[in-house]
Amino acid sequence: MPDKSNTRQLLLDAAQRGANYRENIAARSVAPAADALLAVEQFIEPLSADGCADSDVLAMLDDIGSPATMAMASPRYFGFVIGGALPVALASNWLCAAWDQNVGMHEVTRATSTLERVAMDWLLEILGLPQESAAAFVTGATVANFTALAAARNRVFSSIGWNVEADGLIGAPPITIIVSEETHPTVFKSLGMLGFGRNRVVKAAVDGQGRIDIARFPSISGPTIICAQAGNVNTGAFDPIAEICALAKPQGAWVHVDGAFGLWAAASPNRAHLCAGIEAADSWATDAHKLLNVPYDCGIAFVRHAAYLKLAMSIEAEYLITETEFRNPSDYTPELSRRARGVDVWAVLKSLGKNGVAELVDRSFDNATRFAAGLQKAGYEILNEVVFNQVLVTFGDDDVNRRVIDLIQEDGTCWCGITVWQEKSAMRISVCNWETSEEDVDRSLDAIIRIANQERA
Ligand SMILES: Cc1ncc(COP(=O)(O)O)c(C=O)c1O
Repeated sequence: MPDKSNTRQLLLDAAQRGANYRENIAARSVAPAADALLAVEQFIEPLSADGCADSDVLAMLDDIGSPATMAMASPRYFGFVIGGALPVALASNWLCAAWDQNVGMHEVTRATSTLERVAMDWLLEILGLPQESAAAFVTGATVANFTALAAARNRVFSSIGWNVEADGLIGAPPITIIVSEETHPTVFKSLGMLGFGRNRVVKAAVDGQGRIDIARFPSISGPTIICAQAGNVNTGAFDPIAEICALAKPQGAWVHVDGAFGLWAAASPNRAHLCAGIEAADSWATDAHKLLNVPYDCGIAFVRHAAYLKLAMSIEAEYLITETEFRNPSDYTPELSRRARGVDVWAVLKSLGKNGVAELVDRSFDNATRFAAGLQKAGYEILNEVVFNQVLVTFGDDDVNRRVIDLIQEDGTCWCGITVWQEKSAMRISVCNWETSEEDVDRSLDAIIRIANQERA
């Protein structure tokens, strides 16, 4: 029988350790030290017969695990597109974990499902999306794309008299899926999971920034789903969504927008022009664990016509209490049981308000611009137009870039990764963290430029 006499002490110990970790994060090397990574092997051991004290479990996690983590919550972590978990969201996440709510059914978990409903309404408001839309709180943008495209699948097939939920895709009439040459791989994965196939797509041509070139957009005819993008994972560029919707709507095509990080531009009056016209689309996917700085895992799918999402996702069973006047969360998500991840979204929105979210978005853009200006001044080529939070810089050929990036990661001041942009090797800087200051950018620039100059010399 697990020991419950020490629960308070154990939880306080976890909170202390977590707080220490966060307090030290800006001071430590962003990448873990080699000896800390070696120590991880201590986790690889046979399962004991009798276990050990809970306090020892926690101590082992902290003593070996904490130093070996990549400091993704650091204000100088610029890899992939990674947010940093605002303190209020981390705190709400801890409290919610203590509640241990399974938010699938509103009638059973009214507190958390009400908080998710409020978070949904606030999100629709700040993102400028149709207020009648439904939202699903899922693990990330991959599943948000999947969820929204499941609603699209329902709608497109029902428009041609086919019940895809009941009858599947075997023998179904063909439909067309238009993506772009720069659609994120998770959209292809979602298309595969939905039975459309990753390859049975028509690809729209893009320009030098990765935006769909509307002049070369494929002609639309018959039942069609179009996948557009707000925020290219390399350049940060936005597809011309208003123009795409203008072509799609008269044909009855469904437009889905993958806005994993870019959709947040809509929350800032200074950056909202990037998302102009998105409200005309039918569905949108985003991540709260990116620019909103909510802890992992938290993505959101929005669907204008709630009914299609519900038809794709809802289930009934005698033992489930799914009938309610209120919004029943599991009617909109692939999962039945899940944690109430929308509560962390609520906590951030409640804490920051509209202006605070806009400021978060603006600061990422300002810091990205500062990076680009500093690197350009030092003589390095920026490959993208910095419109949002992404910067692509090259120090030379692929070998030089790889060496410079390895040394930057080893140096530990900051962390950036490699990519290839339209056949050119580049280093990718993604500014997402709520805590990143101008000083963090300048300190990182000093390290990057020092290392690149040495390597070139
Ligand atoms: C445009 C885009 N779509 C989808 C994703 C996938 O997001 P997640 O890893 O949260 O599933 C990403 C991740 O960076 C992205 O940039």
